[in-house]
Amino acid sequence: MIDPASGIDDTLDVLVEDAQILHVDKPAQGSGFRVQGRKNKKPVEDDPAVPKVDRVIDATGKIVVPGLIDMHVHLREPGREDEETIASGTAAAARGGFTSICCMPNTEPVNDTASVTEYILEQAQKVGRVHVFPIGCISKGQQGQELAEMGELVAAGCVGLSDDGKPVMNADLMRRAMEYATMFDVPLLPHCEDLHLSAGGVMHEGRVSTELGLKGIPSVAEAAMVGRDILLSEYTGARLHICHVSTAESIRLIREAKGRGMRVSGEATPHHLILPDEAVRGFHTNTKMNPPLRAVEDVAALREALIDGTIEVIATDHAPHARAEKEMEFDYAPFGIVGLETALGLILSEFYHTGLLTLAMIVERMAAAPARILKLKHKGTLAPGADADITIVDPDHEWVAEEQALQSKSKNTPFIGWKLKGRAAMTIVAGQVVWEAT
Ligand code: DOR
Ligand code: ZN
Ligand code: ZN
Repeated sequence: MIDPASGIDDTLDVLVEDAQILHVDKPAQGSGFRVQGRKNKKPVEDDPAVPKVDRVIDATGKIVVPGLIDMHVHLREPGREDEETIASGTAAAARGGFTSICCMPNTEPVNDTASVTEYILEQAQKVGRVHVFPIGCISKGQQGQELAEMGELVAAGCVGLSDDGKPVMNADLMRRAMEYATMFDVPLLPHCEDLHLSAGGVMHEGRVSTELGLKGIPSVAEAAMVGRDILLSEYTGARLHICHVSTAESIRLIREAKGRGMRVSGEATPHHLILPDEAVRGFHTNTKMNPPLRAVEDVAALREALIDGTIEVIATDHAPHARAEKEMEFDYAPFGIVGLETALGLILSEFYHTGLLTLAMIVERMAAAPARILKLKHKGTLAPGADADITIVDPDHEWVAEEQALQSKSKNTPFIGWKLKGRAAMTIVAGQVVWEAT
């Protein structure tokens, strides 16, 4: 069991009662638990120190970790249920080892009122395989003109606020959003992009875009907004979490802000950590997302920042799109790729099996840090009293990412056909097994 939040990395038994972690301990007599109503090993059967349980899950050779949390997911419900529903998106999450996901508000309608938040939570309660934590809009209709009813959104259950999909271009509106956010104690999660600098761009601006003849999005379109939002958050005292950091300049700004003791965090996606803009050369629209795949130097800076902790979180920016819409010319295809089902395998393959990150560091970035940033109570840890959200990781299982296996309704990922090492063998939410790999 690895639980960085409580400093545990040991061979242990975990006892779950109802939806809670009751107890974590050394295996009793080396024999584990005894199963109620079934004959187990004789000496254990008679040992009153060994608890009676309904089910024993043998995780020998695997790693038991706090359920992974993806704080950046696009579910398309309400509005585009052909692309993803709360049911299909949470099934994809369960397969990927995630026990909690946060859903961004750019649905149709957008999540800018309590009624939309309540709909998402009710639907998640009914058909969701994993916990769903909505993120509400910063501005009404994500139009960037007027603030949404932030207090109402938080009261209804939103754990953070963002206009993701779009930036908040108006600095004064962002300032006021931050001032309110401090009153509700939720973080703002900006999508940092200066729309004037990025206008018309479809990929990273650099040598590759020039060679391909595609209009570029310069890295400063992101970094300029990261800088602005850091300054505004310093001015207002708001908590800031920068979505999908992709450039070396943004990292420099975040590192510098942290050095001054600021409460700013950032996330990186598996695709930005692994693929550079070179991947766009085939003009495949599954390499088109926003922010775009960046230069190799940016990828290197992002990896370094993930390793040294400047980037605290790995999040997928899972963005399902209909096949018909993605199968267009590069210029016209929508931005975004799905990521829930490949994230863990990619991170284990590229960072754990290469010795760049330990399992504890990965769990920190995929479970403990998101829980801390979003103040998700009793999550991101397996300490007694925590929710029984558990991921059993098989770090050595080799598999190929296949389209037919995707639980997501959309299949837009550039990682189909990739050989990966490591996956979720089992996902447990509130004490119930919601995914078991075969
Ligand atoms: O690639 C992206 N896809 N970037 C965004 O900002 C929005 C997202 C989406 O909703 O498809
Ligand atoms: Zn975004
Ligand atoms: Zn997003």
